[in-house]
Amino acid sequence: MTTTDRYAVFGSPIKHSKSPRIHRLFAEQTGQALSYEAQEVTAEAFPATVKGFFEAGGKGLNCTVPLKELAYRFATHKTERAQRSKAVNTLVLQTDGAILGDNTDGCGLVTDLLHNHRLTLTGKNVLILGAGGASRGIIGPILGQSPTRLVVANRTTDKAVLLAEEFKSIGDISGCGFEELGRLQFDLILNATAASLSGQLPPLPDRLLASQASCYDLAYGNEPTAFVRWGFAHGARLSLDGLGMLVEQAAEAFFIWRGVRPQTRPVIELLDGERKKA
Ligand code: ATR
Repeated sequence: MTTTDRYAVFGSPIKHSKSPRIHRLFAEQTGQALSYEAQEVTAEAFPATVKGFFEAGGKGLNCTVPLKELAYRFATHKTERAQRSKAVNTLVLQTDGAILGDNTDGCGLVTDLLHNHRLTLTGKNVLILGAGGASRGIIGPILGQSPTRLVVANRTTDKAVLLAEEFKSIGDISGCGFEELGRLQFDLILNATAASLSGQLPPLPDRLLASQASCYDLAYGNEPTAFVRWGFAHGARLSLDGLGMLVEQAAEAFFIWRGVRPQTRPVIELLDGERKKA
């Protein structure tokens, strides 16, 4: 008897998740037999639901807001990048029954920047806005690209300073408040605040972008986000949202689960085309 391997994404809210669509497209493209469902799971329900999923034969899970820290705690083993980010978005059942936790968010972002948009981080001045879980997940992979300097700016200054402190052994990183950005200029600004989701923007100085700079919002939507619009209004060469990162982090999870790397470009183009029609 052949059985179809089961995968899922847990989160809350989860109704609008594009992950089932993306993974089904990957499965179709690579000829992998698998199922992938979205399931509404709150933080309270997570421990019992995740245990039940794997006991019932589930092979792998994606975890999104607000479950990434809980998934980190649930995993019996963690990759180095998961340990650094203290958050897990991908759980994998190992052959010996152990559950491996990984974080593919930062790798997905870097792949989107480098391969899809031909940007370089090496030798550049990079700014991350926000010091929450989303920032924590991307700092390691960004520093891995050897930028000249990485600044984390946050509404609550202390959080940015503490976060930078955690990563300073692997690169040139500092934390500050928005008001301290002053006359600094950056080649790439990444928005990892939750502000974008409610259409808001952190208070940013007008001359924050160096010549030929790019902006990237980790959030995405059918319409350009407030930060993507800010980038265009302030002369960014590129002002992008996180659709590419979403597809790339999914491709990395798919590769971890199935050992096959799907092509991401057709999926990004399909989803981008659909939202332009929406
Ligand atoms: P996530 O896991 O999505 O990063 P989080 O851990 O709650 O979520 O962090 C949200 C981030 O967005 C924080 O950096 C937060 O700033 P504070 O640490 O000062 O709370 C930032 N944020 C949320 N709303 C914001 C707003 N309106 N303006 C600026 N920053 C905002």
